[in-house]
Amino acid sequence: MAIDGCRSDFPLLSHLHYLDSASVSLTPVQVADLVREFDLQYRANVGRGVHRLARMATLRYEEAHRTVARFVHGEDGLLVATKNTTEAINMVAAGLPWERGDRVVTTRAEHHSNLLPWLRLRTCGVEVTLLDPLPDGTVPLEAFEEAVDDRTRLVAVTHASNVLGSIAPVKAIGRLAHDHGARILVDGAQSVPHRPVDAADLGCDFLAFAGHKMLGPMATGMLWMKEPVIEPLLLGGGMVEAVSDEEVRAAPGAGRYEAGTPNVSGLLGLARAVEYLEAVGMDAIRAHEERLTARLLAGLAACDGVRVLGPDGGTPRIGVVSFDVDGYHPHDVAHVLDEAVQVLVRSGHHCCQPLMEHCGCPEGAVRASLYLYNTEEEVDLLTATVGELVRQG
Ligand code: ALA
Repeated sequence: MAIDGCRSDFPLLSHLHYLDSASVSLTPVQVADLVREFDLQYRANVGRGVHRLARMATLRYEEAHRTVARFVHGEDGLLVATKNTTEAINMVAAGLPWERGDRVVTTRAEHHSNLLPWLRLRTCGVEVTLLDPLPDGTVPLEAFEEAVDDRTRLVAVTHASNVLGSIAPVKAIGRLAHDHGARILVDGAQSVPHRPVDAADLGCDFLAFAGHKMLGPMATGMLWMKEPVIEPLLLGGGMVEAVSDEEVRAAPGAGRYEAGTPNVSGLLGLARAVEYLEAVGMDAIRAHEERLTARLLAGLAACDGVRVLGPDGGTPRIGVVSFDVDGYHPHDVAHVLDEAVQVLVRSGHHCCQPLMEHCGCPEGAVRASLYLYNTEEEVDLLTATVGELVRQG
């Protein structure tokens, strides 16, 4: 499927310019249709009961797990449905067997979902080391080399920054962690939707990501695990094979971590979204976004009074560009873009307050985030409107 032809699959784009996909992407009609089809044609609970709808829903739910696992090359691990990246990371934080004196190494550049679950472990005597970013907001491999030691049990790091767009050397960080007997959790919330990600090749132990950032239904997330080394966060129906007074025998596979009725239509829709992304091609999506990002960076660089956060243009990055405009609050810039030219961007702290402080933006920044459905014209409209704002300022 050609990338240029996909815009018409997203009805909202008929009257809006959506540049907030890092928060939540739009969803195409194919995904919305599938969710509706489930609800109207074979809505049933999964893994329970043997009637025809239950069997059909269960088969499709299991197939959806396999489709999403294939997408991240995670067939050899275990893929668990969650409601978002946040839940996936909290499951790991709560499920590993921590002991006093264990260490977690993470960074001050993480979004709150990959920061707060680790900070809470301090109350159990776990030492949490936060690596400081360089002035441009990135954390180099050398900082991990200095910090990771034999007491480190886990390194938790974001693959692509939701503020700066920068890409971390997670493969090398993973090797380092493993050399010290530690595990690595990769927060793939911003990478999995935008470029080919291969969990096996990255060598990570955990990969967390969100379906609603990759064309899937709202509140769909995934936790991929190389091995099922964590204890389940929730106990209840669906995650057990046998229960008696003496024994609870957990279900095999992902089911052990999916207690209670899962979001069946959500995962089915996410699998449909994955098929959509595969039909367009992840390499094509990456190339398209890199082209638009270069254009956006060049356009913003030409506006006096605009400061783009993060590394220089030559550094590889995803299509996330945060900036501040001299003399304007970020929310005011976002309002003007929306009201004047129907360009929707996010403004504020981007769930990343420590990084925003570090970058000298205590009130946050404006963030444009791109996806396969965005165009050069939309990028130009944004930069022209920001340029006009600065001139009027
Ligand atoms: N982490 C999401 C964002 O960056 C919510 O917008």
